[in-house]
Amino acid sequence: MTRGEAVRTARSVVVFVLGAVGATGCGGDGEAPASPGPEVTWFRDIQPLVERSCASCHDGAGVGGVALTDAATAQRLAALMSLRVSAGDMPPPVLDPSCRSYEGAERMSLSQEERLLFDAWARGGAPLGDPVDAPPPRGRADTIEVPDAALEMPEEHDVSLDDDGNEYFCTIVDNPFSEPAWITAFEAEVGNPAVVHHMAVYRDLGGDAGIGYGVPPGTRAFPCRDPVIELDWQLLHSWAPGVGVTRLPEGAGVRVEPGEQLVMQMHYFGRRNSDARDRSGYRLELSREAPRAEVYMDVFGPVPFTIPAGAESHTERSAAPNEGPPLLVYGVMPHMHVLGRSYRAWIERDGGASECAARGEFEFHHQALYMFDEPIRWGSGDRFVTECTWDNTVDSEGQFSLPPQDVPWGEGTNQEMCFMIAYLSKE
Ligand code: HEC
Repeated sequence: MTRGEAVRTARSVVVFVLGAVGATGCGGDGEAPASPGPEVTWFRDIQPLVERSCASCHDGAGVGGVALTDAATAQRLAALMSLRVSAGDMPPPVLDPSCRSYEGAERMSLSQEERLLFDAWARGGAPLGDPVDAPPPRGRADTIEVPDAALEMPEEHDVSLDDDGNEYFCTIVDNPFSEPAWITAFEAEVGNPAVVHHMAVYRDLGGDAGIGYGVPPGTRAFPCRDPVIELDWQLLHSWAPGVGVTRLPEGAGVRVEPGEQLVMQMHYFGRRNSDARDRSGYRLELSREAPRAEVYMDVFGPVPFTIPAGAESHTERSAAPNEGPPLLVYGVMPHMHVLGRSYRAWIERDGGASECAARGEFEFHHQALYMFDEPIRWGSGDRFVTECTWDNTVDSEGQFSLPPQDVPWGEGTNQEMCFMIAYLSKE
């Protein structure tokens, strides 16, 4: 199904419930704060958390800049670390694992108890403690040892950051397939981790990726500030720091055709590295035979809508019934634009029960695909419910008009969207 068709399908089955919040099984169940014990030390308490949840961006080479893996640096920044951690913006927000466990959840997020440890450590004067307590050296990350195929940006790119430190860049990559291929695992190969903040690979069903961005036909590299899935593009994979190898479950694969146009979208971010260069790519694992389950992408969410000027917490919701045979949902990528605040998605079963699929704070600059540990069954007649909440006040971090204006649904960065992009297959 093309993206255009996906939206038309969504439109025909959409039920709008403006501003409604209801019983969904996605309710927040906050964890009780625990007392962090007598003395919190670097070696025993903080270093393991930094290695696990911060190092992918803060090892000195990553996009976070400062090397929090270095004890002296961490001691110097202890108060700031505690501040950023308790504010909930470090590590950057991800899907809430209490809604649904997903691959890498423990790497990517901190529990309430763990957040409190940062505070206790800073208050206690950031002691190092006993090196005997230090965590074992980081093991080797999961990797695709011998890729069956690879994608690569055709040329090294001169990163050119705007005043806010961002660049969005797209490039058509060579399609390496001479016959239909089934991708069973994706591994992002980040060229320059100091500036790559997010990357994604799409297939362009229209066959001329740049046209939506107003560049001449055949252009291979072009700026693409506006998020790209609104065009005729189908997401194959999306990566953000902390996301490891994405493996589809045994017997499942994503089909890619020879000659299909493949596009990589890069989001670069940085402060000091304005002369940085990058050439990133993907390592892929393929299946020789057609897998049992053909995984495809579909898009869910309400269309169209308007977010009133000044609304502090405006919510829209859609509910798409499964009118066919039972399906499995393997993972989702939530997508909104810059005014996005939070999202929720769940399956509402016939009979009233519901199962949480995704819930979290939204951060435009940190969009990732979350693969569930166990797929969710989307039975015949069950509804896939998607809900988004926006902040359209003066104080909204992403506010782009002063005074705030009504913001319609649309593809532009000054418009808004609410999508759950999901990997699905027949049961
Ligand atoms: C996904 C990448 C990512 C992860 C994971 C991450 N950070 Fe960050 N961090 C950043 C980026 C990017 C910045 C710079 C922009 C900003 O300040 O928001 C930053 C900035 C910071 C700063 C401010 C540094 C300064 O010099 O101003 C602190 C402190 C910080 N992070 C702490 C943490 C801690 C503690 C963790 C783990 C619990 C963590 N971060 C995990 C990306 C990340």
